[in-house]
Formats: sequence, C-alpha cells, structure tokens
Amino acid sequence: MPTLLVTRESAAGETRVAVTPDTVRRYQSRGFAVKVEQGAGERSGFSDQAYAAAGAELVPPGLDSAWNEARVLPVVQAPPLKRLALLPEGALVVGLLNPHGNRALVDALNRSRLSAVAMELLPRISRAQSADALSSQANVAGYKAVLLAAAALDRYMPMLMTAAGTVQPARVVVLGAGVAGLQAVATARRLGAVVYVSDIRPAVKEQVESLGARFIEPPTQEEKPSESGGYARQASEAFLAAQRQQLADQLAQADIAICTAQVPGRQAPRLISDDMLEGMRPGSVVVDLAVAQGGNCAGSEPNTTVARHGVQVIGANDLPCTVPHHASALYARNVATLLESALKEGELVLDLEDQLIGDSLLVQDGSCRRDDIVPPNPPS
Ligand code: NAI
Repeated sequence: MPTLLVTRESAAGETRVAVTPDTVRRYQSRGFAVKVEQGAGERSGFSDQAYAAAGAELVPPGLDSAWNEARVLPVVQAPPLKRLALLPEGALVVGLLNPHGNRALVDALNRSRLSAVAMELLPRISRAQSADALSSQANVAGYKAVLLAAAALDRYMPMLMTAAGTVQPARVVVLGAGVAGLQAVATARRLGAVVYVSDIRPAVKEQVESLGARFIEPPTQEEKPSESGGYARQASEAFLAAQRQQLADQLAQADIAICTAQVPGRQAPRLISDDMLEGMRPGSVVVDLAVAQGGNCAGSEPNTTVARHGVQVIGANDLPCTVPHHASALYARNVATLLESALKEGELVLDLEDQLIGDSLLVQDGSCRRDDIVPPNPPS
C-alpha cells in the first residue's frame, strides 16, 4: 500500500500539523497507509495515541526510510530542502510552500523529480472554498489579531454603563476586508467595539455592513483598482496617497487599527505612515498582519511590538501558530479535501483538467508548471 507521511514540522515557531487523527481516516479510505512521525501533533494538541487509534503507524521523527517510501507528504510549511532529496521520484509534496519567487524550492523539487502543490495557488472560486487554506488560516489570524489588540489596549472594548459612569466603546479601524479583515470585524463587533473598514474593492461594502461595521468609501472613483479572481489588483501610488490622507482622520479617532490589506504576491500597501501614527492617540494599538509582506504600517517588525509616538505597533506574523489546535484541524481538512480528488484506490492521479489541481500544481515530476509564480532561471 502506498504511504502518506505526516512529519513533525521543522520551521522555527511552527506549531501546526498537516494531518490530524480525523483526516488520517480519510486518507486510509482512499487506499493510503498513513505514517506519522512521533510528536508530529504534540504542539497542536493531537497525541501520538490519537493518531495510533485512528490507525496510523508511528515512526521516529526524521527516519530516512519513512521518507524514502512516502508517496505523499502533506506539510504545513516546506521541509528543509535537503530532506526533499530523500523522497522517491514522483512523490507529491503538498503545503503552504511560500511559492512566489521561491527558486530554491523549485530547484530542489526539480532535482528530485518531485511534484508539489502549493496551497497558496488554489483559485478563489466557490468549489475551492473547502480546500482554501489561506482563508482558513487568515480567519484564525483575523480573530487572534483583535484579541491581541484588546489585551494590549489601555481601555475597554465594549460600551459599559457602570455605577461609576458610562464608558464609550472602543473605535476600531480595519484595513482590508478580505478573510482576515472580515473575521477581525466580526470579532471586534462581538467584543462591542465600533468598527470602521477601509478596502479598495467596493464589492466588500455589503459584507462589511452586514457585520455591523461602517465602510469607508475608497477616496477616488476613477483610480479605483478592480479585482481579479477574488483578490485585489494593486493600487496606484496616487491612489494610496489619497487613501492615506483619508485614513489619517479615521486613525486619529481610533483606539485600534488592524492591518490586513494585501495584494497577493506583492509588497503590502503602506497605509499607515509614521506621521499618521503620530496623529493617533497615545495608548492606542496597531496590529499589522501584513508584516511578513513588508507591513501596512510604518515601523512594524515581525514578531515584535514596537512603541511609536506612544502607539503600540504589534508586528503579528504567524498568528495561526498561536491557535494551533483549530488552525491545524482546519488546515488538515483543507488539505484532505484537495487531496481526495487526487488519491484514488491507492493511486495518485493529478488531473490537470481539474482547476483546483491545475492551478495549484507548482511542479510536476521535476518540471515547474507555474513560470508566472517562479520565473525560470536566466540562461547561463
Ligand atoms: P485577502 O486577499 O483575503 O484580503 C486582503 C484585502 O486587502 C482584500 O480585501 C483587498 O481588497 C484589500 N486591500 C488591498 N489593497 C488595499 C488597500 N490599499 N487598502 C485597503 N484594502 C486593501 O487576504 P487575507 O487572506 O485576508 O490576508 C490578509 C493579510 O493577512 C495578508 O497580508 C496575509 O498574508 C496576512 N495573514 C497574516 C497572518 C498572520 O499570522 N500574520 C495569517 C494569515 C494571513
């Protein structure tokens, strides 16, 4: 029986796992034996015993022979590149592979004649929703960002009427109303805040308002960038300058800003300048989820909180890793849903006519299929 290997993630700070005991059963029903490296689920609350009870075989972490046999390797993040050489030709690696411009990864996959699905490349279409790992993880991040902000804030979130007087609700500005942004809106609303939202896609206005938040109309009509495939197109510098001016007034009245604006594969748009931070109330909090893409906020730094003009700027990357149990459970279901279409009676069949596989298959049997994502090496 071909095997699917579940590894203990090795990237620094990674606490999630790509296959949970629940999804072990789904792979077995497709004719795959599942091997799990001991401790693979330890950091996300899935014990070795739970995997064994689901019918998986436990193997020591990093056991070369388990890698040599693995036909499918679901991962959260790409494993160390030298370990890819241990996989047999034609094996499939599936994960959040950080594919954009990742020449080193593609070269390593090519050298070993492997195939790889980058979950980031799934199209944003309705049929892909249950496999959409970026969305499930962004959802976790949007939720946790608000909790971090609330914990760091020097005041209450909800309106309170107490014997000592009435407390006004906190005012939250959410930048970007994609998956993370909308979950941030919903979470902040549940905590009782008044929420304002800025996005360049007019289509999200209705969603924002349905969550009880107020939409800040984009600054200019004619410059408004359109969207493509459920994602925003990049805004012009002139548009961003006008947007910053508009946001400066909003931020001056805000207690919290949650930054989630992004255009896939690009630097995050810079929406909060240092001057704008200076205009904010001392004690207010900015959580920058886009920090790994360069940040929406001036001065934000990954995994660090910096104080600028009395404002706490939290550079919050890897938030799904701080909610590892549910982040893993959702991610594992995303991966299983995608793989189920490719795993049939113990065979791995990659149907390129299926848009989900066709778009997300970065490398097939040692050849890169997405030159638009990883441009070829220039001829030497
Ligand atoms: P998404 O693509 O669903 O949403 C991004 C939103 O930003 C879109 O609605 C887009 O229209 C909007 N946008 C683009 N340019 C804008 C501008 N100039 N002004 C206002 N809005 C603008 O992305 P998603 O999945 O919600 O992720 C958001 C960010 O959170 C990304 O940077 C992503 O990498 C990051 N993220 C961070 C995590 C963490 O732990 N820090 C975890 C997951 C996602």
